Amino acid sequence: PLSARVNDHDHLEIGGCDVKLLVERFGSPLYIVDEQTLRAACCQYREALARYYPGESLVLYASKAWSCLAICALVASEGLGLDVVSGGELYTAITANVDPKTLYLHGNNKSRDEILLAIETGCTIVIDNWLDLQMLAQLSEQRSTQTPIRVMVRLTPGIECHTHEYIRTGHLDSKFGFDPNQFDAVFSAIAQQPGLSCVGLHAHIGSQIFELQPHGDLASVIVDAITKASQYGLNITEVNVGGGLGIRYTEADDPPSIETWAKTVCQAMVKACQQQNIELPKLLCEPGRSIVGPACITAYTVGSQKQIPGIRTYVAVDGGMSDNPRPITYQSVYRVVLVNRMSAPLSETVTVAGKHCESGDIVIKDAQLPPCEPGDILAVLATGAYNYSMASNYNRLSRPAAVLVSGGECNLILERETYEDLIRQDRLPERLAAL
Ligand code: LLP
Repeated sequence: PLSARVNDHDHLEIGGCDVKLLVERFGSPLYIVDEQTLRAACCQYREALARYYPGESLVLYASKAWSCLAICALVASEGLGLDVVSGGELYTAITANVDPKTLYLHGNNKSRDEILLAIETGCTIVIDNWLDLQMLAQLSEQRSTQTPIRVMVRLTPGIECHTHEYIRTGHLDSKFGFDPNQFDAVFSAIAQQPGLSCVGLHAHIGSQIFELQPHGDLASVIVDAITKASQYGLNITEVNVGGGLGIRYTEADDPPSIETWAKTVCQAMVKACQQQNIELPKLLCEPGRSIVGPACITAYTVGSQKQIPGIRTYVAVDGGMSDNPRPITYQSVYRVVLVNRMSAPLSETVTVAGKHCESGDIVIKDAQLPPCEPGDILAVLATGAYNYSMASNYNRLSRPAAVLVSGGECNLILERETYEDLIRQDRLPERLAAL
């Protein structure tokens, strides 16, 4: 994080807070979010779009990366809107007082209730498939008000890019959106719905992408679709180019900056619009990982170790795949530091393991660390995106607490789950309780 430094005790400090002291106070594992880094990323996106795009623009935060009240409110305070993909994310955003006019509901299988909540809230709904359209058409007919429901259409752009197979979304073999051969049919069908106002088109090509070319290519696919939509009488005034900019997890990663990404996207959009001779639409994008990812670290406490001579040393920590499922799911690689002896030489190669009952529960394979002892604090870096949001209670571990740090102050933004929380939804049928 931007505000990270090593303090006089040779401890890692973030946002002016000593990480070891944070762990003593709030427990372990602990997600620590650096407000300065988070705000800076929002600001970089906002300003880069304003600089490189001559038309109107709005950055949405893809809240799937980390949805909770504080993060939603913070991001909204930076002038960003929000992309939500479920009733739960929508509810979180509304409860955080995010302006519904800046909310966009995605999802390839929205329930009727989710669509209803979105309509009541006044958020824009991104039509992903025929069932979405059918439900929206019905619900719009049943409404008493005359104001049409604001919708967008999600396109599958047919663009390939290099990232993990599970997080590619823009290729044709994708479960999301309408394929190019369906554009005519869907535009024509939407144009016949007086209760729907189709304001925009959306496409997203994937996540943790380092290449710029696919983002550039996307512009012309979208602009072609605007022209096509206009043939059916749809006046497309907004386009959303999705998210996907990758971040640096280890030194080997070299992603483009937010600025470069935005410049590529904006210039491609302007060029495509000029070529097709259409007015510049309002430009939306919806980054998640690159907003929140670099802003967080996860602090763990070291416990047991196992040395297998000539093979490997395992250093176990008090969390793992429940608070960060990314390594086991995508073979993701992270960087780790020893918080309480920051300048100690990195003389050991060890494997940092989680505490779950699975051999695959490895936080980092072959990490360079100083010798560690029980009670030492390790910090895994860049854990803001898709860690808490994908966390589970596997092995009935409590989900960690999260704190927001800034200027030497810290605020708890997520309570650590208690044992009572873990059994809160459990119900014990009476005949079993008698045992
Ligand atoms: N928009 C849409 C429609 C998306 O599907 C996504 C991510 C985003 C925006 C934000 O993409 P980002 O800027 O964060 O790359 N759990 C996986 C990532 C899944 C991404 C899903 N969609 C991971 O941990 O790598």
